[in-house]
Amino acid sequence: MAQQLAESLPRGRQELTHHDGIKIRVFETPERTSLAAAIRIIDVANYNPLAAITFATGETMKPVYEELAGLAHILNISFAGITAFHLDEYWPSEPDNPFSFRNFLRKRVFGPLRIPADNIHEIDGSAVDLQEEARLYDEALKRGVDLAILGIGPGGHIGFNERGTPFDSRTHVANLAQDTIERDHERGEYVSDKALTQGIETILEADQIILVAYGEEKGRYLAEALYGEISENCPASALREVGHKVTIFVDQEAANVIMQARDWKIQESID
Ligand code: GLP
Repeated sequence: MAQQLAESLPRGRQELTHHDGIKIRVFETPERTSLAAAIRIIDVANYNPLAAITFATGETMKPVYEELAGLAHILNISFAGITAFHLDEYWPSEPDNPFSFRNFLRKRVFGPLRIPADNIHEIDGSAVDLQEEARLYDEALKRGVDLAILGIGPGGHIGFNERGTPFDSRTHVANLAQDTIERDHERGEYVSDKALTQGIETILEADQIILVAYGEEKGRYLAEALYGEISENCPASALREVGHKVTIFVDQEAANVIMQARDWKIQESID
C-alpha cells in the first residue's frame, strides 16, 4: 500500500512564486493537481485535528474530494474534530434540491469524512431572512478558519463574489453575474440568480488559502487575477493582498496561460 501511495504521489513539476508571495504549484495533469490539493488538506487535518475548514463546491472540487476521502481512509486521518464551513450556496435552494451545495458537500465531503453534524455550519439556502442568515453565518466564521479551499469561476469570481464585489465584503447575498448564470445554464444545473456567499474579506481572514484550477479557461481567470490590476473588477485579485498565505494548485494547461501573462508583464516592464 505504501509503495502504491508513494508511486501515485504528485511530484510538482514546477513551483512558481508570484511577486505578491503567492505560491503556484504546477502539475502535469488535473488528476495529479487534485491529488496534491487533497494531500494539502490531509496535512492540515493531520497537523491540527481541530482545524476549521471552508469547503468550495464545483466540478474542480469533485476529484479533490474523491482523493481526500480515499486518503483519509487509507491513512486513517480522522476528521471527527474538524469544523466545516460552506463557501457559498444558491438561493433559493430547498434542502432536497440535488444541485444545492449542501447536498454536494454532504455527499462528497461531510459524509465520507464522517464530520459530525454538530461541527458542520451549512448555509441555509431556504432561509427566508437572507440578511439575517448571512449575518449569523459570518458570526459563526469569527471563530477563525484554518484553511479555505477555493475554486475560481467566470469573471475570476471566488465563492460567489462576482466582479464589483468590495474587498471588505462579509458573508452576504450576491446577485450572480450573467456569465455565471449562463455557465450554470449550459451545464444543465440549477440556475438561480442569487446566492449567499462568504465575502472577500471573510475568505481572506483564513490562515491558509488554497485555490485549485485546471485548464486553459481557468488559466485565463488566474492570469488576470495574478498579473492584471488588483481591483474589484477581478475578485480573485484580492488574494494578492494576502499572498503569503495563498497556494494555487494548477495543471500544466492552466499554468501555460499564467506563465504567458507573467512573461508579457516582464516584457512590458522592460519596454
Ligand atoms: C462556482 C462556485 C465556486 C466555485 C467556482 C468554480 O460558481 N460558486 O465556489 O469555486 O464557481 O466552479 P467549477 O469548479 O465548477 O468550475
